[in-house]
Amino acid sequence: MNGRVVDTLGAKATPGVDDVRVDDRRVKGAPQARYIMLNKPRGFVTTRHDPQRRRTVLDLLVGVRDYIYPVGRLDYDTEGLLLLTSDGDLAARLTHPRHEVPRVYEAIVTGVPDDEVIDILRRGVYLEGRRTQEAGVTRGPTVYAGRTPTTKLVLTLFEGRNRQVREMCAQVGHPVRSLQRVRYGSLTLRGLPLGAWRDLSPAEVEALRASTR
Ligand code: URA
Repeated sequence: MNGRVVDTLGAKATPGVDDVRVDDRRVKGAPQARYIMLNKPRGFVTTRHDPQRRRTVLDLLVGVRDYIYPVGRLDYDTEGLLLLTSDGDLAARLTHPRHEVPRVYEAIVTGVPDDEVIDILRRGVYLEGRRTQEAGVTRGPTVYAGRTPTTKLVLTLFEGRNRQVREMCAQVGHPVRSLQRVRYGSLTLRGLPLGAWRDLSPAEVEALRASTR
C-alpha cells in the first residue's frame, strides 16, 4: 500500500486515496456513488433522455461524467430542488411511499383560496380514484396585480404522485401559475442559484439515508 508491503491482517485503506497494489497491479475499490442537488429551472425535462429532444436536466450538469439519474420527477415547468444520484438503493428508498420523505412546494395559485379550500387540500382530494395523503398546507400573501389576484401556498406532501400539486390545486378551483420545490427530506435549496448544482456533503447523504430508516 502506497509503495510499502503491508502484512498486518485487518490493515485498512481508503478507496480513492490509498494506492493499493497486488503483484504491482492496481486494485480499484468500488466506485463511489455520486449525489447531486440541482436547482432546476423551468423548461427542462426530468429524464436522462427525451425522445422529443427537449432539453433535459442532464444538460445542466456540465462536467458530470457519472451515470446518475433523477430521484422522482419535477414537471417541465416546475422549478426547484431535484436530487440526482448513481445510488439506486437510496433512490428506491426515498421514492418508496413507506418512508414518507417530506417534499415542500411553494405554489403561486390563481385567486384567493379560503380556509375551507385550505382544509380540503390538507385532508386530501381524489386523484384518479385515490385520495391524496394528508398534507401540510399554509396560505401566504395574495398579490393584487392584473385582472386576477394570485396567492402563495406552501404545501408539504409525503408522497410524489404525477403532477400532484397542480392537480390538487386545479381540483379546488385554484390552478397553479408557478411551482417550485424548496425542500426534499432534509435538503433545502438554500444558497443554490437557479440552474446551478452541487455535490451533497457526506453528512447530507447520511441525513437522507437516516430519513429512510
Ligand atoms: N407536483 C406537481 O404538480 N409538479 C411537480 O413537478 C411536482 C409536484
